[in-house]
Amino acid sequence: MAASFLSSLTFRFALLSNLYFVKRRGGACCINYIRSCRPSFKIRNISLFPQSRPQRLCFSSSAIAQAGSSRSLDREELVVLGIETSCDDTAAAVVRGNGEILGQIVSSQADLLSRYGGVAPKMAEEAHSLVIDQVVQQALDASNLTGEDLSAVAVTIGPGLSLCLRVGVTKARRVAGRFNLPIIGVHHMEAHALVARLVDSDLQFPFLALLISGGHNLLILARDVGHYVQLGTTIDDAIGEAYDKTARWLGLNISKGGGPALEELAREGDSDSVKFKIPMRQYKDCNFSYAGLKTQVRLAIESRSACVDNNPISSASFQDRKSRADIAASFQRVAVLHLEEKCERAIQWAKEMEPSINCLVVSGGVASNQYIRSRLSYVVERNRIRLVCPPPKLCTDNGVMVAWTGIEHFLLGRFDQPPPAREPEDYVYDIRPRWPLGEEYLHGKSEARSLKRARMHPSLTSIFKSSAQQNN
Ligand code: KG4
Ligand code: ZN
Repeated sequence: MAASFLSSLTFRFALLSNLYFVKRRGGACCINYIRSCRPSFKIRNISLFPQSRPQRLCFSSSAIAQAGSSRSLDREELVVLGIETSCDDTAAAVVRGNGEILGQIVSSQADLLSRYGGVAPKMAEEAHSLVIDQVVQQALDASNLTGEDLSAVAVTIGPGLSLCLRVGVTKARRVAGRFNLPIIGVHHMEAHALVARLVDSDLQFPFLALLISGGHNLLILARDVGHYVQLGTTIDDAIGEAYDKTARWLGLNISKGGGPALEELAREGDSDSVKFKIPMRQYKDCNFSYAGLKTQVRLAIESRSACVDNNPISSASFQDRKSRADIAASFQRVAVLHLEEKCERAIQWAKEMEPSINCLVVSGGVASNQYIRSRLSYVVERNRIRLVCPPPKLCTDNGVMVAWTGIEHFLLGRFDQPPPAREPEDYVYDIRPRWPLGEEYLHGKSEARSLKRARMHPSLTSIFKSSAQQNN
């Protein structure tokens, strides 16, 4: 006990001396210590350059260090490896500072999911561990680069499953330590939002974003990199979870994901045939709820005697298949109407806060759905703003979005110093399984969510705000 306390003190002292050294060396750079109440992310240093957004900046990458001098770096010269393991996809990509994707690999666990009915953290961790080295190597090979050509490593540190996040963070620190590269911890949902700026170079802040995935349903006002206002979130399940469960209950083949399977079956059905209730219409806010809709679907399946004995759709009669397709189409219609209604309100709120807003970004795995894209295109048309939807491959989890978000932060001077080539055994990883993106907009607050705040990390935006205040 005493020994572990002493070693923790030694570690803190070593870290502080290290930070002090960095502070003295880097004239433009100041350091903040961000503490939290959770032991797994005791201390984190974030290096910030002043508020301006330099297009060229000085830093020491391995190549520069080897050359024995520092020099300014063009966007084009910046090459970042991004690693993503927050849930069930192991992904890596190499992206250039100008947005050029040099190589990307995704290894999916969808097959495991379909066999076991959901993400089991221990199993997902094993699956990530099995393939992570190969995925990173393949991304580098596809780019025709080696670790020595990289400028930095970006990795998702949250939110997500802590066991899974740890696999990516361990790998990222190993690569960064070996090649003496700065490391950037990335917020998974920020990465979903910012990848839209890689796709559309005209997309400027502020913009509104609807981020829809398996675990999140967020409406955010993006003011700048690292600066978000959360207009709405889900009070229970995310839309992706509702798609996945419905697909499973309808006996679909979900080896390539529940969402895509449901979208396909819905094309055969009549979307007006089952009368589901649109969630949360009485709440004049931008929050979501999908748990009630899931229950309605379950009841509809039971009352129509569809999917009796859980038989797969491949062995369903013509009538049974039609009945399942009707449920799928009706579910999808109402699930998306819920999105449409909340987006309409969020656009009004966002315009009141930032009258210059002219863009809605829709991203996250569920945004690869074509029906959702087409319905939301009417919403933006009515409100005279434009829709930016990354291509499906960049909507579902991928390494490109992580590398790109790393680039956005790196260009603002937000990165950590290279880890040591050999990590101390008692090193505490900075992993943030529950990590809100932005600060809540007052009108968007909901009672239900305030009950679930235990073990939550301070939001990305509040961290950057308090860093900026300390530096002033
Ligand atoms: O962002 P993502 O890849 O992983 C998480 O961060 O959760 O999102 C995964 C979710 C899953 O629920 C998956 O079924 C859903 O996105 N999804 C879709 C479609 N493609 C993926 N949902 C509806 N329609 C799709 N075409
Ligand atoms: Zn995601």
